[in-house]
Amino acid sequence: MKAIRGATTVSCDSAEEIKEKVQELLSEITRQNCLEEQDIICIMFSNTLDLHAFYPAKAARECGFVNCALFSSLEPEIDGALKMCIRVMLLVEKDILPKHIYLNEAKNLRKDISKILNIAIDGPAGSGKSTVAKAIAKKLNILCLDTGAMYRACALKCVSCGVSVTDEGNVAKIIEDINLNVQYKDGAQITFLDEKDVSEDIRKPEISMLASTVSAISCVRTKMVELQREIANKNSCILDGRDIGTNVLPNATFKFYLTASCEERAKRRYNEYIQKGKNVDLDEIKRDIEKRDIQDMTRKIAPLKQADDAIYIDTSDMEINEVIDLIIKKIQEKI
Ligand code: DC
Repeated sequence: MKAIRGATTVSCDSAEEIKEKVQELLSEITRQNCLEEQDIICIMFSNTLDLHAFYPAKAARECGFVNCALFSSLEPEIDGALKMCIRVMLLVEKDILPKHIYLNEAKNLRKDISKILNIAIDGPAGSGKSTVAKAIAKKLNILCLDTGAMYRACALKCVSCGVSVTDEGNVAKIIEDINLNVQYKDGAQITFLDEKDVSEDIRKPEISMLASTVSAISCVRTKMVELQREIANKNSCILDGRDIGTNVLPNATFKFYLTASCEERAKRRYNEYIQKGKNVDLDEIKRDIEKRDIQDMTRKIAPLKQADDAIYIDTSDMEINEVIDLIIKKIQEKI
């Protein structure tokens, strides 16, 4: 069982306004914690003495919370405390990391949790970072930015323009006005290039190496890092890539560095392609990964390496769920 806290304020003791604000608070809590009504065991309200204690619980019933137990109480008068405030606690039967919600003037009660959370996950190809990042983003209900997809889109753009990814001059011209953006559908990232969904095209094996090569060009990195920081500054999110902890977000709230043996990583990639019905060769994938590791780790600008303050995880002998649980545990220990 988990407890979720929240609070909001109103401007007067009116049943209508209290209903509106309670509805707003409960719908944010249920939305951000991905709750269904049956997950909620009970909702407990308390409000300051300047509001009628009956209204919040009545509002919850009227807003459709008809099956869970409801309770409301009045808080004692405390000098200097926030006025016209409604606090809530939900007990829920769901294994989540609770997201507490503070709205309106009540935001000032918990400035610490109104803060943006940025998690950096770096590591080489096949280390499990994108699968892990997606699962953690889902658990924490935050965005997941696959930064590799952005470099892949740059490579795809070069291919479609007939420009070699080593031709720095022409790559620079293309990148200057690149129309690249990411959107989210049901938590999944969709990568758009020139308004077209290229999420599938950028996954082609031949794009991997081209992405690695194009990502070593200075102007490409400058542009992509700018876009990544813009997203991370506005949203709580988890970013997976090669230089997130070292370069894109040196002050990220949490940093992890995932790796695994080259054999294991090649096997994982091979299985992914086979599952998608692609005809691939394991040795070729392994050679490709080794080559890409060297290229990504030895380039001049922002090479792949572990940030000094990142937590190192070797996933070679771990199931993906063990990696996810370990990272969630590390995050929970600190927040
Ligand atoms: O994670 P991926 O395989 O989709 O990444 C493709 C290439 O993009 C990778 O070989 C190097 C580059 N990349 C990068 O340089 N920096 C990042 N933050 C992410 C990816």
